[in-house]
Amino acid sequence: MALAGESRHGMWSNKWLFVLAAAGSAVGLGNIWKFPYIAGENGGGAFVLVYLACVFLIGIPIMMSEVLIGRHGRQSPINAVRSLVAKSKASSFWVLIGWMGVLAGFLILSFYAVIAGWALHYGWLMGVGTFQNADGAMAGATFDAFLANPWMLLGYQTLFMVVTVWIVSRGVIKGLETAIRWFMPLLFVLLLVLLGYGITSGGFPEAVDFMFAFNWDALSWDGVLVAMGQAFFTLSLGMGAIMAYGAYLPDDASIPGTVTTIALLDTFVAVAAGLVVFSIVFANDLDPSSGPGLMFVTIPLALGSLPAGEIFGVVFFVLVTFAAITSAISLTEPALAYLVEEYNAKRGRVAISLGVICWILGIGSVLSFNVWADVYVVGSLTIFDFFDYVSQNIMLPLGGLLIVLFAAFVLPRELVRRQIGFDGGVAEILWLLLARVVAPLGVLAVFVYTLYQSFA
Ligand code: PFF
Repeated sequence: MALAGESRHGMWSNKWLFVLAAAGSAVGLGNIWKFPYIAGENGGGAFVLVYLACVFLIGIPIMMSEVLIGRHGRQSPINAVRSLVAKSKASSFWVLIGWMGVLAGFLILSFYAVIAGWALHYGWLMGVGTFQNADGAMAGATFDAFLANPWMLLGYQTLFMVVTVWIVSRGVIKGLETAIRWFMPLLFVLLLVLLGYGITSGGFPEAVDFMFAFNWDALSWDGVLVAMGQAFFTLSLGMGAIMAYGAYLPDDASIPGTVTTIALLDTFVAVAAGLVVFSIVFANDLDPSSGPGLMFVTIPLALGSLPAGEIFGVVFFVLVTFAAITSAISLTEPALAYLVEEYNAKRGRVAISLGVICWILGIGSVLSFNVWADVYVVGSLTIFDFFDYVSQNIMLPLGGLLIVLFAAFVLPRELVRRQIGFDGGVAEILWLLLARVVAPLGVLAVFVYTLYQSFA
């Protein structure tokens, strides 16, 4: 039986495990696979700066809001918001935050598992030496041939879902605490090794220039929306994942401190991954805007030319798969915790049911890369593109907007002050400025302007 003030789903042993778990949720395919390729598609420079601004000015206040709501409620996001709505005598409209988060979690996990499956396959390919002394054309052709085979994609997606469901059914705390203690530090070390390779590859100065030069002309309004969406996606914000983890955070941990650490770790991994990938791109005359295959072409190419490259390659893709698993686990937690609370259901059974739903939804993404490559949901968006676009660029920012409005305007001020530990000083003023003005107006402005542009 959980003690009063503790979650029935368990508690992190200390604040560092929360930081590692939340960083485990944040650091994932979004940083290593997605950030480089969408930065490439959107011209680098200005895109990266908008993204960084969104992480720190919009992401941090929203993450603080998620953690404080979760920690106060000590339940799943839906029930945490529900109890706060009752306490603040607010409209039950706000419970939408929780429901929309559950839906976004399903959509994201469905395609996330497919891409994580690619990483699994590449771990294997690296191990058997496929990329020894490969060139860009061969690495590209290997990737295209893999995508053309729906059965392979389906097999790996299934394997990834089975492992995720297995860990999730053991309980997020038991399942995660052991794994993250050693794998997160390893991932950092390997990234540093790769960064060393990038710096000596000859493409590094161009990579730095590509990522940080102010090239506003290369950025469209849709690119601004994508940069904002990426900030939400990479920090796991807007759907209750961090809220669910916040429910297991001990009372004495500082929310601003833990949240800033998580955002910095996440940003470090994304920027490092970007520099590695673009150094290899420029050293080998590849196209930075070549899309979702960017990481799967550049990294094997680099590692294939290194001594002991196969070993590094296996380790790299295994770590990427782990990073994806710790993110996938957090994608299921809001729905899972809710169903366990509501129906007193067994975690294992709920995990299997959720896994099956995501697996079925994911088949649409598997087929988007081959058999249904010409089937569009709207415009030129395949099923994969559509799930990705709608969840990342619309649902997460909208969810985040509602969360920050709820925390900054609806919750009793005293409750927020107690949770965050404010005493009326500069930090509190900064919080009010970011949470009441900058973050909500930032999200709204990007939404309104992009809508206006697409209809104008
Ligand atoms: N933050 C993860 C990544 O960057 O790969 C993806 C993600 C996890 C998004 C959890 C949203 C979420 F709730």
